[in-house]
Amino acid sequence: MSNDALNLPVKARDRAPACVVSDAEVSLLNFYRASALHGGLILGQMARRSCEPELIARLTRHSAEEMLHSLWWTETIARLSGCTKAVTDTYHSRCVEIVGTPISLLEVIALTSVFEHRICECLQLHLNEPDVHPIVVATLRRVLADERWHLRWIGEWLMEERKINAQKVSSAVGRYAIADREICEALSAAYGLRKSA
Ligand SMILES: [Fe+2]
Repeated sequence: MSNDALNLPVKARDRAPACVVSDAEVSLLNFYRASALHGGLILGQMARRSCEPELIARLTRHSAEEMLHSLWWTETIARLSGCTKAVTDTYHSRCVEIVGTPISLLEVIALTSVFEHRICECLQLHLNEPDVHPIVVATLRRVLADERWHLRWIGEWLMEERKINAQKVSSAVGRYAIADREICEALSAAYGLRKSA
């Protein structure tokens, strides 16, 4: 990617100092970056298959914001002089391994709901830690500000859907929630993903 695509000060693009955070922290930031991108792609695919204008608007905005979060993490890693790397291991890829590929709108929303709750908790716990680099703190705050709307519209959609078929919604969300607990344990071990005790 051209440096012009990155929102970085010119001086930061030209020099290549040692990374200012640990390799483990960079791996976690790469994981945030890749998972936001994967989540955005799934939502974008669902927007392509939808007909109802308000739903398309919500899915498209949500997809765009997840893509933007991925860009912000890319810029954050670059500002820290860390290495971006191809990451195919994402929250969503692990979820697909356990539950299967989400096909229906309900499955995509259920997966997104569980992911959003988990990532919000992880980012907030990360933010609450002492000695987090100020560049990382700024991006965590920026991403978390958007997450409020993500959680709200997904929650509203699920609430409306429950009025039609509560059993179906509970079953879908429940499947992803069970997978989420397994994924969280594994990601905590692999990337140091923050989780509550
Ligand atoms: Fe989100």
